[in-house]
Amino acid sequence: MISSDVTAVERRNWAEGSLSFDESRRRIAEASQWLAGGVSSNFRLGVQPTPLVFERADGAYLFDADGNRLIDYYLGLGPMILGHTPRDVIEAATAQMQKGLLYGGQSGPETEAARLFCEMVPCADLMRFCSSGSEAVQCALRLARTHTGRRVIIKFEGHYHGWFDNILWSTTPPAGASGPVPGSKGQQATIEEIEVLPWNDLAALTARLERGDVAGVIMESIMCNQGAILPGAGYLEGVREACTQYGTVLVFDEVITGFRVGPGGAQGLLGVTPDLATFAKAIANGFQVAAIGGRRDIMALVTQGVVHGGTYNGQAVAMAATVAVMKRLRDPAVQALMAARGTRLMQGIQAAFDKAGEPAVVTGLPQIFHIGMGLTEKPRNWTDLHRMDRARYIKFTATLVRHGVRALERGAWFLSTEHDDDVIDATLDAVARTLREI
Ligand SMILES: Cc1ncc(COP(=O)(O)O)c(C=O)c1O
Repeated sequence: MISSDVTAVERRNWAEGSLSFDESRRRIAEASQWLAGGVSSNFRLGVQPTPLVFERADGAYLFDADGNRLIDYYLGLGPMILGHTPRDVIEAATAQMQKGLLYGGQSGPETEAARLFCEMVPCADLMRFCSSGSEAVQCALRLARTHTGRRVIIKFEGHYHGWFDNILWSTTPPAGASGPVPGSKGQQATIEEIEVLPWNDLAALTARLERGDVAGVIMESIMCNQGAILPGAGYLEGVREACTQYGTVLVFDEVITGFRVGPGGAQGLLGVTPDLATFAKAIANGFQVAAIGGRRDIMALVTQGVVHGGTYNGQAVAMAATVAVMKRLRDPAVQALMAARGTRLMQGIQAAFDKAGEPAVVTGLPQIFHIGMGLTEKPRNWTDLHRMDRARYIKFTATLVRHGVRALERGAWFLSTEHDDDVIDATLDAVARTLREI
């Protein structure tokens, strides 16, 4: 078992909170000569105490350039649900690698992965593979517009659907913002086609849909990029009904929740079936795979003039890995084990905050949860979440990493099957020590 490999020195360093990251700092500065900002994604910039450089990973652990062992709750920003080195996935990918990498054509693993996907995902009569979640979302928007012959897309405050111009609106808007807020400099103003509403507010959505000109509604069916917020009772059912009534395509963006919160994603867990859904991350445990699936008549449009392309879509090695991942994740026992451990972790963290007299609300699901520091009630949407004490949470995560636990400073904690009881005990110990320190 990997956790028994933790050395006495590593445990002492965790307990003392004495981990340092100077070598990472030095290497980021060196890389910045050629690699803009020393990173390849803006979401890795500005991380406290510094963006880290890693040497290797194993199970629930990362090993960084300073020789630190870190318990990892980033999990590659979500994908690594089977941990960093799942033997079966690596063996499947390695075997395929011997037979070729990219055919520019179809492969057996691609068909097998598509079959498994359609068996597991409730809305999926038909599907396509893509190479990133952002691309899958673009395909969904194009399909919604073609199917309805309408232009307007509705998204929600605090929800993220990729970094492209037409959808990067109001992902973290300031409190009280009126109208869509761009997420990037240089972003083209396509706001006349995008409208932003508060999430978990059925009356607001229904009133807008009644006008009969909305092509699609896209949402994170469990809000996970900011917080880990479940839909209120009856909300998704109401959205489903309203979309059907007004002829609007309902898209669930399950890039985070898909294959993570259950074999059928959020739609399987919550029992509400969208018309289309997008997937990525946990579907392939670190390989670059995304997908879109949905109603046969809408998905079939990609064979009737709606262009969906991508050189790397369905790459054979990634497809072999995807088959191995999906076979593991369709086993209810795998999900049940994660649910039990994650519940203990969530409850332990909440108890540690309560004991320290530090206001916080731990929300979400065992496989992905969030600590709303400074909140006293469960948030329902971005407006509620916005009231959390972000500065203090950043201080918490920046201290926690010195105690050996790496958690995202802007949001959710991701769990893997490799976060066993020893890892969870060590995490809870680090959380308690961190709270005493700050
Ligand atoms: C809900 C959601 N949709 C879309 C995306 C974009 O996916 P990608 O980063 O693979 O382009 C993300 C990425 O974090 C996401 O969380």
